[in-house]
Amino acid sequence: MFYFGADYYPEHWPQARWAEDARLMAEAGINVVRMAEFAWSLLEPENGRFDFTWLDKAINTLSGHGIQVVLGTPTATAPPWLMSQQEELFLVDKSGVRRTFGLRRAYCPNNPLYHEHTRRIVIALAQHYQGETAVIGWQIDNEFGDRCYCSICQQAFQTWLQKKYGTLAELNQKWGTIFWSHVYTEWSQIPVPLDTIASHNPGLNLDYYRFMSDSYRAYQKSQIDILRQYMPHHFMTHNLMGFKYPFLNNYDMTEDLDLVSWDNYVRMQWLEETNVSPTMPALAHDTMRSLKKKNFWVMEQQSGSGGWEIVSPHLKPGELRLWTYQAIAHGADGMVYFRWRTALHGTEQYWHGILDHHGIPGRRYAEVKQIGQELQEIGDLIAGSPVHAEIAIMQSYDTRFAFQVQPNNRRFQYESHIQAVYNGFYDLNIPVDIVSEKDGLQGYKAVIVPAMYVLTEETAANLEAFAAAGGVVVFTPRTGVKDADNAVVNMKLPGLVAKMSGVEVEEYVSLPADQENTIQFGLPDLEEEFPASVWADVLETKGAKVAGWYADDFYANKPAATLNKFGDGTVIYLGTMGDSLFYGAMARWIAALAVVEPLLATPAGVEVAARTTPRGKLLFIMNHTECTQEVVLNGRYCDMLNGETAVSGTITLPFKAVVILLTDKA
Ligand code: GLA
Ligand code: ZN
Repeated sequence: MFYFGADYYPEHWPQARWAEDARLMAEAGINVVRMAEFAWSLLEPENGRFDFTWLDKAINTLSGHGIQVVLGTPTATAPPWLMSQQEELFLVDKSGVRRTFGLRRAYCPNNPLYHEHTRRIVIALAQHYQGETAVIGWQIDNEFGDRCYCSICQQAFQTWLQKKYGTLAELNQKWGTIFWSHVYTEWSQIPVPLDTIASHNPGLNLDYYRFMSDSYRAYQKSQIDILRQYMPHHFMTHNLMGFKYPFLNNYDMTEDLDLVSWDNYVRMQWLEETNVSPTMPALAHDTMRSLKKKNFWVMEQQSGSGGWEIVSPHLKPGELRLWTYQAIAHGADGMVYFRWRTALHGTEQYWHGILDHHGIPGRRYAEVKQIGQELQEIGDLIAGSPVHAEIAIMQSYDTRFAFQVQPNNRRFQYESHIQAVYNGFYDLNIPVDIVSEKDGLQGYKAVIVPAMYVLTEETAANLEAFAAAGGVVVFTPRTGVKDADNAVVNMKLPGLVAKMSGVEVEEYVSLPADQENTIQFGLPDLEEEFPASVWADVLETKGAKVAGWYADDFYANKPAATLNKFGDGTVIYLGTMGDSLFYGAMARWIAALAVVEPLLATPAGVEVAARTTPRGKLLFIMNHTECTQEVVLNGRYCDMLNGETAVSGTITLPFKAVVILLTDKA
């Protein structure tokens, strides 16, 4: 079954309205809602007094219309009666400032009193709803994040370190605390990396970021364990924030969950431009799908202008539908719109939902209803069908955290670098998975490893085995620089992957904006030249063939990119970074080497993604541009939203249109 729904806040509206909401939802094809994730004040109006009557009534009203429910645990917004009990309940930010009451997510993730109240409300919810058949799953908290630097966290960090290192001698050695006389003689001396000083020991800093991620994971797990005890068959999820959010290790966080879900906001109020590239949500969807190698839900899909103080640009007709099918094309089995109705009160008064403030159905409701009707036809075919990718991009949270400590170059940003590499394949309509450095690589033809700064022996062995067995591996600069303790490796770069690359970095140059270079490729099928920016590894071949040279500066004519045969496979080392044309050419080069075919060739701005259904490959052709576009098909298809009529040749896609085609096997 395809889950089609809305984030619903019945507590914002008189009970007399609820039946009308449920009726309108059912009429639009909505079969699931998420509720209660911010309702602690109503669920426990005062310490220890629980009241579920209103939520029971809302669930009954919805289930009377065939709508199922995902309940959120309400721990992202604790009521004033709780937060006023102790100052230490509030998170302390990086600058050392303690949060005050008034927004949400104000709590310290390691505060014992907060944990105690969390346990009580979650147990009460679990006991009350364990027999409620309309409830199918739970969302733990809401959008975990934000690092705390308080003294409770400091102590918890010291305990975490003790468990990790055993002895202070070991810790001192791994962090190299002899530098600047930081040798610790008591665990209690170890600080947290506050911004009150300019820079911290890289080993300490990386460990703190790992510890913070572990803290949220443990807090999430404490809730999951309670809920599972009462409801072993309900799914557990958390609404993640896509690819970009950098503070939590999402691979770890989702190990304890059954279902990955995330919140897709394409057009935020902070943006000055209307159009965010569709490659951003595409990468986020692919990352979310890759976390558990399973289809996912969008738990909050923007369905109207966003806004707190400022109202974001609006959604044009067709965009909600386009974003919905983009998510589905990349593996969503659930689509939940944020939110059902725009609120009259509170910080998010201008965060528009399917219905406007007045609650009368309008243009966006009509669009949701159209999608709902379409999903009645094709939802069953789609649900559960996988996305198949032959190319993987590898990312690592150790590397993400380490680059937060030391970005290396002012213009370098790891997440943007991965996005740039991804965009090359996106533009070709070649599906990609986003794997972690610990994932198995079986089934892929090529693995791109952008800037794998922290690189362990296990990861190197994993990549060597993949290349030896015939895979294509591609490295970009700043790979293999650090070990797991965030110490620089005592060998020539790219360190542990130098051997498989058949190349060594003779020296490296961090490029300022006014000293760009040029890379000239000299291969039979890649003869172009591109601007080289941000970083230049000056290479010395150790068995690899030179693929490209630098054009300028004291390292002119030195190798800038290489290609090495390793076992049955190929290893490419790119010594510099480039623009979108560079990554476009890289993607074409890699796809040719790995023999990976695009799904379909399309004009720029027209995206194609696919799911493999029991009836064959289902292609989603999506026009993200403002113009009418023509696409030439590569065979015969059935047009699934048009009575399954046969199509071939050229199809026309108006502004923001989506066409869904099933490969005609006949
Ligand atoms: C997040 C939250 C929602 C809402 C939206 C819009 O994704 O989970 O509660 O605040 O942002 O701001
Ligand atoms: Zn804290």
